[in-house]
Amino acid sequence: MSARFLFTLLCLASAASAATVTVHPTETWPDQRGRHIQAHGGGIIKVGPNYFWFGEDRSKDNAPDKRYVACYASKDLVNWVFRNQVVQLTDPEHLGEKWVLERPKVFYNARTKKFVMYVHLDSGSYQFARVGILTCDTFDGNYKYLKSIRPLNQESRDIGQFIDDDGSAYLIFESRPTHGFFIAKLSDDYLSIEKKTCFIKAPLEGGALVHFNGLYYLIGSKMTGWTPNPNKYATASRLEGPWSEFKDIAPPETNTYGAQSTMMLKVVGTQTTSVIFMGDMWSPTSQWDSRYLWMPLEIGGGKLGLPQPRPWTLDTVTGKASILP
Ligand code: DGJ
Repeated sequence: MSARFLFTLLCLASAASAATVTVHPTETWPDQRGRHIQAHGGGIIKVGPNYFWFGEDRSKDNAPDKRYVACYASKDLVNWVFRNQVVQLTDPEHLGEKWVLERPKVFYNARTKKFVMYVHLDSGSYQFARVGILTCDTFDGNYKYLKSIRPLNQESRDIGQFIDDDGSAYLIFESRPTHGFFIAKLSDDYLSIEKKTCFIKAPLEGGALVHFNGLYYLIGSKMTGWTPNPNKYATASRLEGPWSEFKDIAPPETNTYGAQSTMMLKVVGTQTTSVIFMGDMWSPTSQWDSRYLWMPLEIGGGKLGLPQPRPWTLDTVTGKASILP
């Protein structure tokens, strides 16, 4: 039996039926091998009943000249099966030994049946400021590097992804010289940017967006490197704006409980819909040990709040998330 086939069996068995599971934010999060999940600055897509989590793989034993993206699969969003280091790339744009590949985001294009990955590509001094695009025929295959672009001809550093309820796909990117960030619609095949949807003049990175009960909610983080800061949110009834003023998502003195936004994940169940804040708690000198802060958001009526981290349960079938007492 091939190792790949065995992996598939394991994946199906461990995630055959989703039940109520418990999330332990800020703790190590083991995959099916017992290794802390390497999906930092990541994003999640749902294809059929499966969730796929992609993120920066900062494993201690990675080759120093390469950059890695890992892919994990789950049905319940808590038990994750490591599938592959889907990117194992050597400096594709000659950026030097400290080159950077961050915040990978994967989109599935139902028309071309391709998985398309966007990454922040940069030099060690963060002056390249471009987006790299890679593709693959399967979610967990070896992604092929295609090209790098400056979306809308703008400098681009932190990126985020958003898929609207009508299936339209968007890239969010921070653009320092403009003192703001963009929401840009992807082309039909997702291999380029079709148009600017909105420019928001707020110097925020770690952009995360969700459409919930008729309103768009946007979260961003201040630009303080790896150090946490008070993340903020704004709302709009149309993606094009106008956007409200930005407000704190948590008591500002907590610095977002030590985390930085990477995505908001909407879990639509048979009974209810929950929105999960996905954040990274960076450990700059031991990135392999960077933790995840996932909490269900208090969201609705134009307000958004990140509760204090504590264990909580999730049922992806019903959509119910409950913070434990
Ligand atoms: C903050 C960004 O959000 C991270 O992805 C990373 O680029 C760090 N800055 C680098 O300092």
